[in-house]
Amino acid sequence: MSKSVVHIENASIGFSPDEPLIKNLNLEINQGEIVAIAGPSGIGKTTLLRTIAGLVPMLEGEMTLFGRNSKASRGELGYIPQRLGLIRHASVYHNVLMGALTSTAGVWFPFSFEARRRTLESIDAMGISEKKRTPIRLLSGGQQRRVATARTLAQQPSIILADEFLGELDEETMESVLSKVTNYVRTNNATLIVVEHDISRAKRMADHLLILDDGQLNPFVDQPISMQISMRLDKELNV
Ligand SMILES: Nc1ncnc2c1ncn2[C@@H]1O[C@H](COP(=O)(O)OP(=O)(O)OP(=O)(O)O)[C@@H](O)[C@H]1O
Ligand SMILES: [Mg+2]
Repeated sequence: MSKSVVHIENASIGFSPDEPLIKNLNLEINQGEIVAIAGPSGIGKTTLLRTIAGLVPMLEGEMTLFGRNSKASRGELGYIPQRLGLIRHASVYHNVLMGALTSTAGVWFPFSFEARRRTLESIDAMGISEKKRTPIRLLSGGQQRRVATARTLAQQPSIILADEFLGELDEETMESVLSKVTNYVRTNNATLIVVEHDISRAKRMADHLLILDDGQLNPFVDQPISMQISMRLDKELNV
């Protein structure tokens, strides 16, 4: 039987109990799965990821991670935030090393061989080796996004929460970053939950695609675009 990684039951997610962003949320994600979440801007996708990461408390309901009631332990959960959260004056190397040090348990020592190895390997996997010593503030948006991804890969987490991590990348770089991350997930039997606004890309990368809209998270139903638009219009016009 597959192991449960994220289990959420009867939950309300958001910031105000009177107006939750997501209602009656039930979600089960197992080890080894890649799940993509799409939906309109401002609907609550980032808030859902931050709730799973333990950064936003649930308004109601129950959540277990890896079958436990507690937050993920150190290094177990990797988060690539939409706003990246990099240290802007520090170098690429330093930022990625921070990720590696999160999980090289007990080795709080910047010269740890394992942490250095993982740092260089992840920087290389993201194709930014030549920028290793460059401060983040001097990088392009897409390069910064790749640093945030490298930081999470260097951490070697069991679950990755990735928020629009393929933004600002050209097609070729995007394919390369995507394959490095999905390879990591597949070879390590890890789990990936990714917020991805591009539906065709989301369908291609994920085992399951979920759509967040109107406070509900539902499986994506494949329909011709014209039908989706007309259903949406019907809903908006209440007919
Ligand atoms: N810390 C906060 N406190 C109160 N409201 C917040 C907070 N963070 C986000 N919100 C609100 O919650 C709503 C959902 O925001 P969220 O960032 O989850 O949307 P999103 O689906 O990720 O959008 P996008 O696709 O634009 O990234 C927005 O209306 C936003 O203003
Ligand atoms: Mg968002």
